[in-house]
Amino acid sequence: MQATADKQLVGQHFSRAARSYDEHAILQLAVGRSLVQRLPAQLPVNHALDLGCATAPFARAQQQALPDVHWQAVDLSPAMLAEAAVRGRLNERYQPLCADAEQLPLAEASQGLVFSCFALQWCDPQAVLQDISRVLAPAGRVLLAVPLGGSLQELQQSWQAVNQRPHVNALPTFNDWQNAAFKAGFADPDLQQQVMVEYYDSVKSIARRLKATGADHVSGATGLTGKNAWQAMVAEYETKRTSQGLPLTWNVLFLEAEKS
Ligand SMILES: C[S@@+](CC[C@H](N)C(=O)[O-])C[C@H]1O[C@@H](n2cnc3c(N)ncnc32)[C@H](O)[C@@H]1O
Repeated sequence: MQATADKQLVGQHFSRAARSYDEHAILQLAVGRSLVQRLPAQLPVNHALDLGCATAPFARAQQQALPDVHWQAVDLSPAMLAEAAVRGRLNERYQPLCADAEQLPLAEASQGLVFSCFALQWCDPQAVLQDISRVLAPAGRVLLAVPLGGSLQELQQSWQAVNQRPHVNALPTFNDWQNAAFKAGFADPDLQQQVMVEYYDSVKSIARRLKATGADHVSGATGLTGKNAWQAMVAEYETKRTSQGLPLTWNVLFLEAEKS
Protein backbone atom coordinates (compact mmCIF):
# COMPACT_ATOMS: atom_id res chain seq x y z
CA MET A 1 0.00 0.00 0.00
CA GLN A 2 1.33 3.47 -0.91
CA ALA A 3 0.87 5.69 2.10
CA THR A 4 2.45 9.02 2.82
CA ALA A 5 5.10 9.23 0.11
CA ASP A 6 3.32 11.52 -2.33
CA LYS A 7 1.24 13.89 -0.22
CA GLN A 8 2.39 16.84 -2.27
CA LEU A 9 1.11 15.24 -5.46
CA VAL A 10 -2.22 14.42 -3.79
CA GLY A 11 -2.53 18.07 -2.76
CA GLN A 12 -1.64 19.28 -6.27
CA HIS A 13 -4.24 17.05 -7.90
CA PHE A 14 -6.90 18.35 -5.55
CA SER A 15 -5.82 21.94 -6.05
CA ARG A 16 -6.47 21.49 -9.79
CA ALA A 17 -9.93 20.12 -9.01
CA ALA A 18 -10.94 22.87 -6.56
CA ARG A 19 -13.34 24.70 -8.92
CA SER A 20 -15.02 21.60 -10.36
CA TYR A 21 -15.19 19.51 -7.19
CA ASP A 22 -18.71 20.22 -5.90
CA GLU A 23 -20.44 19.79 -9.26
CA HIS A 24 -19.01 16.29 -9.83
CA ALA A 25 -18.66 14.77 -6.35
CA ILE A 26 -22.24 13.52 -6.20
CA LEU A 27 -21.49 10.30 -4.34
CA GLN A 28 -19.03 11.89 -1.90
CA LEU A 29 -21.54 14.62 -1.05
CA ALA A 30 -24.33 12.08 -0.46
CA VAL A 31 -22.06 10.07 1.84
CA GLY A 32 -21.06 13.25 3.68
CA ARG A 33 -24.69 14.25 4.23
CA SER A 34 -25.34 10.84 5.78
CA LEU A 35 -22.31 11.34 8.07
CA VAL A 36 -23.73 14.71 9.15
CA GLN A 37 -26.91 12.88 10.20
CA ARG A 38 -24.78 10.82 12.57
CA LEU A 39 -23.20 13.79 14.37
CA PRO A 40 -23.51 13.54 18.16
CA ALA A 41 -25.81 16.06 19.88
CA GLN A 42 -22.97 17.43 22.02
CA LEU A 43 -19.23 17.16 22.39
CA PRO A 44 -16.97 16.86 25.45
CA VAL A 45 -14.98 19.84 24.10
CA ASN A 46 -16.47 22.44 21.74
CA HIS A 47 -13.82 22.04 19.05
CA ALA A 48 -14.14 19.89 15.92
CA LEU A 49 -12.26 19.13 12.71
CA ASP A 50 -13.40 18.29 9.20
CA LEU A 51 -10.32 16.45 7.92
CA GLY A 52 -9.81 16.70 4.17
CA CYS A 53 -12.74 19.10 3.94
CA ALA A 54 -11.94 20.25 0.34
CA THR A 55 -14.42 23.09 -0.38
CA ALA A 56 -16.10 22.50 3.03
CA PRO A 57 -19.44 21.42 1.48
CA PHE A 58 -20.86 20.33 4.86
CA ALA A 59 -19.93 23.49 6.79
CA ARG A 60 -23.44 24.88 7.07
CA ALA A 61 -25.05 21.55 8.08
CA GLN A 62 -22.27 20.84 10.57
CA GLN A 63 -22.70 24.27 12.16
CA GLN A 64 -26.47 23.87 12.28
CA ALA A 65 -26.10 20.48 14.00
CA LEU A 66 -23.54 21.76 16.53
CA PRO A 67 -24.01 25.56 16.79
CA ASP A 68 -21.70 26.09 19.77
CA VAL A 69 -18.73 24.30 18.26
CA HIS A 70 -15.61 25.91 16.77
CA TRP A 71 -14.73 24.02 13.58
CA GLN A 72 -11.47 23.81 11.71
CA ALA A 73 -11.62 22.96 8.02
CA VAL A 74 -8.42 20.97 7.44
CA ASP A 75 -6.98 20.25 4.00
CA LEU A 76 -3.63 19.63 2.30
CA SER A 77 -4.68 21.80 -0.61
CA PRO A 78 -4.61 25.61 -0.17
CA ALA A 79 -6.69 25.95 -3.38
CA MET A 80 -9.50 23.85 -1.90
CA LEU A 81 -9.54 26.03 1.23
CA ALA A 82 -9.51 29.17 -0.94
CA GLU A 83 -12.51 27.79 -2.85
CA ALA A 84 -14.29 27.13 0.48
CA ALA A 85 -13.79 30.84 1.27
CA VAL A 86 -15.02 31.94 -2.19
CA ARG A 87 -18.15 29.85 -1.65
CA GLY A 88 -18.80 31.66 1.65
CA ARG A 89 -18.38 28.58 3.80
CA LEU A 90 -15.74 29.89 6.21
CA ASN A 91 -16.55 32.17 9.12
CA GLU A 92 -15.49 33.03 12.64
CA ARG A 93 -16.48 29.60 13.89
CA TYR A 94 -15.38 27.68 10.81
CA GLN A 95 -11.72 28.41 10.17
CA PRO A 96 -9.34 26.96 7.56
CA LEU A 97 -6.21 25.02 8.45
CA CYS A 98 -3.83 23.85 5.73
CA ALA A 99 -2.29 20.70 7.19
CA ASP A 100 -1.67 16.99 6.76
CA ALA A 101 -4.20 14.76 8.56
CA GLU A 102 -1.35 12.48 9.65
CA GLN A 103 0.55 15.31 11.34
CA LEU A 104 -1.99 17.70 12.79
CA PRO A 105 -0.46 20.88 14.23
CA LEU A 106 -2.89 20.70 17.15
CA ALA A 107 -2.58 20.04 20.87
CA GLU A 108 -3.28 16.71 22.50
CA ALA A 109 -6.88 16.23 23.70
CA SER A 110 -7.95 19.53 22.13
CA GLN A 111 -10.88 18.25 19.99
CA GLY A 112 -14.31 16.86 20.76
CA LEU A 113 -14.92 15.47 17.27
CA VAL A 114 -13.04 14.51 14.13
CA PHE A 115 -15.22 14.25 11.03
CA SER A 116 -13.87 13.12 7.67
CA CYS A 117 -15.51 12.16 4.39
CA PHE A 118 -13.69 10.58 1.43
CA ALA A 119 -10.35 12.13 2.32
CA LEU A 120 -8.15 9.67 4.20
CA GLN A 121 -7.71 7.04 1.48
CA TRP A 122 -4.17 8.25 0.69
CA CYS A 123 -3.16 8.05 4.36
CA ASP A 124 -1.69 5.20 6.34
CA PRO A 125 -4.70 4.14 8.52
CA GLN A 126 -2.39 3.52 11.49
CA ALA A 127 -0.68 6.92 11.28
CA VAL A 128 -3.84 8.92 10.73
CA LEU A 129 -5.95 7.20 13.42
CA GLN A 130 -3.05 7.54 15.85
CA ASP A 131 -2.96 11.29 15.28
CA ILE A 132 -6.76 11.57 15.44
CA SER A 133 -6.68 9.72 18.76
CA ARG A 134 -3.93 12.05 20.01
CA VAL A 135 -5.92 15.23 19.35
CA LEU A 136 -9.24 13.85 20.67
CA ALA A 137 -10.27 14.61 24.23
CA PRO A 138 -11.59 11.73 26.38
CA ALA A 139 -15.13 10.83 25.16
CA GLY A 140 -14.35 12.64 21.88
CA ARG A 141 -15.59 10.92 18.70
CA VAL A 142 -14.22 10.12 15.29
CA LEU A 143 -16.74 9.81 12.46
CA LEU A 144 -15.38 8.98 9.05
CA ALA A 145 -16.21 7.57 5.64
CA VAL A 146 -13.44 6.38 3.36
CA PRO A 147 -13.31 4.29 0.16
CA LEU A 148 -11.70 0.88 0.59
CA GLY A 149 -9.78 -1.47 -1.67
CA GLY A 150 -12.21 -2.81 -4.26
CA SER A 151 -13.36 0.70 -5.17
CA LEU A 152 -13.12 1.49 -8.91
CA GLN A 153 -12.74 -2.25 -9.54
CA GLU A 154 -14.19 -2.08 -13.08
CA LEU A 155 -11.54 0.49 -14.05
CA GLN A 156 -8.79 -1.54 -12.45
CA GLN A 157 -9.89 -4.78 -14.16
CA SER A 158 -10.19 -3.04 -17.51
CA TRP A 159 -6.67 -1.61 -17.26
CA GLN A 160 -5.28 -4.92 -16.04
CA ALA A 161 -6.38 -6.54 -19.29
CA VAL A 162 -4.22 -3.97 -21.15
CA ASN A 163 -1.04 -3.52 -19.11
CA GLN A 164 0.42 -3.95 -15.64
CA ARG A 165 1.05 -0.27 -14.92
CA PRO A 166 -0.78 1.12 -11.87
CA HIS A 167 -3.94 2.96 -12.99
CA VAL A 168 -5.98 2.71 -9.79
CA ASN A 169 -4.70 3.22 -6.25
CA ALA A 170 -4.35 0.16 -4.03
CA LEU A 171 -6.47 1.40 -1.13
CA PRO A 172 -6.37 0.12 2.47
CA THR A 173 -8.82 -2.66 3.35
CA PHE A 174 -11.53 -3.02 6.02
CA ASN A 175 -9.05 -5.06 8.13
CA ASP A 176 -6.33 -2.41 7.78
CA TRP A 177 -8.72 0.20 9.24
CA GLN A 178 -10.08 -2.13 11.93
CA ASN A 179 -6.60 -3.10 13.14
CA ALA A 180 -5.48 0.52 13.03
CA ALA A 181 -8.49 1.61 15.11
CA PHE A 182 -7.67 -0.92 17.84
CA LYS A 183 -3.96 -0.03 17.78
CA ALA A 184 -4.81 3.67 18.05
CA GLY A 185 -6.67 2.91 21.28
CA PHE A 186 -10.32 3.02 20.16
CA ALA A 187 -11.80 0.24 22.31
CA ASP A 188 -15.09 -0.45 20.57
CA PRO A 189 -15.04 0.95 17.04
CA ASP A 190 -18.12 0.52 14.87
CA LEU A 191 -17.14 -0.29 11.27
CA GLN A 192 -19.65 -0.80 8.48
CA GLN A 193 -18.99 -1.41 4.83
CA GLN A 194 -21.33 -0.34 2.05
CA VAL A 195 -20.98 -1.03 -1.66
CA MET A 196 -22.28 1.81 -3.85
CA VAL A 197 -22.46 1.74 -7.63
CA GLU A 198 -22.66 4.77 -9.93
CA TYR A 199 -23.55 4.44 -13.61
CA TYR A 200 -22.08 6.44 -16.49
CA ASP A 201 -22.81 6.66 -20.18
CA SER A 202 -19.15 6.40 -21.27
CA VAL A 203 -15.64 5.69 -20.00
CA LYS A 204 -14.81 9.27 -20.97
CA SER A 205 -17.42 10.58 -18.52
CA ILE A 206 -15.97 8.30 -15.81
CA ALA A 207 -12.47 9.70 -16.46
CA ARG A 208 -13.86 13.25 -16.46
CA ARG A 209 -15.64 12.67 -13.14
CA LEU A 210 -12.48 11.25 -11.50
CA LYS A 211 -10.39 14.16 -12.77
CA ALA A 212 -12.92 16.81 -11.72
CA THR A 213 -12.99 15.45 -8.17
CA GLY A 214 -9.20 15.04 -7.92
CA ALA A 215 -9.58 11.27 -7.59
CA ASP A 216 -7.40 10.59 -10.64
CA HIS A 217 -4.12 10.74 -8.75
CA VAL A 218 -2.50 7.28 -8.80
CA SER A 219 0.55 6.53 -6.65
CA GLY A 220 3.47 5.28 -8.73
CA ALA A 221 1.88 6.09 -12.10
CA THR A 222 4.38 7.30 -14.69
CA GLY A 223 4.13 8.78 -18.16
CA LEU A 224 1.19 9.32 -20.44
CA THR A 225 -1.23 6.65 -21.54
CA GLY A 226 -1.00 5.88 -25.27
CA LYS A 227 -4.07 6.10 -27.49
CA ASN A 228 -4.01 2.37 -28.27
CA ALA A 229 -3.84 1.39 -24.61
CA TRP A 230 -6.72 3.77 -23.79
CA GLN A 231 -8.87 2.35 -26.60
CA ALA A 232 -8.14 -1.23 -25.50
CA MET A 233 -9.13 -0.35 -21.93
CA VAL A 234 -12.35 1.30 -23.13
CA ALA A 235 -13.24 -1.79 -25.17
CA GLU A 236 -12.69 -3.96 -22.10
CA TYR A 237 -14.76 -1.64 -19.88
CA GLU A 238 -17.59 -1.71 -22.46
CA THR A 239 -17.97 -5.47 -21.85
CA LYS A 240 -19.24 -4.52 -18.36
CA ARG A 241 -22.05 -2.28 -19.65
CA THR A 242 -25.48 -2.90 -18.08
CA SER A 243 -28.93 -1.56 -18.96
CA GLN A 244 -28.20 1.34 -16.53
CA GLY A 245 -24.86 2.17 -18.13
CA LEU A 246 -21.21 1.56 -17.23
CA PRO A 247 -20.85 0.69 -13.53
CA LEU A 248 -18.32 2.36 -11.22
CA THR A 249 -18.19 0.66 -7.82
CA TRP A 250 -17.25 2.34 -4.56
CA ASN A 251 -16.63 0.18 -1.50
CA VAL A 252 -17.16 2.60 1.38
CA LEU A 253 -16.21 2.18 5.02
CA PHE A 254 -18.12 4.05 7.74
CA LEU A 255 -16.09 4.15 10.96
CA GLU A 256 -17.35 5.59 14.23
CA ALA A 257 -15.50 5.36 17.52
CA GLU A 258 -15.16 7.06 20.88
CA LYS A 259 -11.92 7.80 22.66
CA SER A 260 -11.91 6.23 26.11
C1 LIG B 1 -12.40 13.72 -2.38
S1 LIG B 1 -12.06 15.20 -1.49
C2 LIG B 1 -13.27 15.07 -0.20
C3 LIG B 1 -13.81 16.37 0.20
C4 LIG B 1 -14.96 16.41 1.19
N1 LIG B 1 -14.56 15.87 2.48
C5 LIG B 1 -16.16 15.69 0.66
O1 LIG B 1 -16.56 14.68 1.23
O2 LIG B 1 -16.74 16.15 -0.33
C6 LIG B 1 -10.59 14.79 -0.59
C7 LIG B 1 -9.87 15.97 0.05
O3 LIG B 1 -8.95 15.45 1.01
C8 LIG B 1 -7.74 16.21 0.95
N2 LIG B 1 -6.67 15.37 1.50
C9 LIG B 1 -6.16 14.22 0.97
N3 LIG B 1 -5.21 13.73 1.78
C10 LIG B 1 -5.13 14.57 2.85
C11 LIG B 1 -4.30 14.61 4.02
N4 LIG B 1 -3.37 13.67 4.26
N5 LIG B 1 -4.48 15.62 4.89
C12 LIG B 1 -5.40 16.60 4.66
N6 LIG B 1 -6.20 16.62 3.56
C13 LIG B 1 -6.06 15.62 2.68
C14 LIG B 1 -7.59 16.56 -0.51
O4 LIG B 1 -6.74 17.69 -0.70
C15 LIG B 1 -9.05 16.81 -0.92
O5 LIG B 1 -9.40 18.16 -0.82
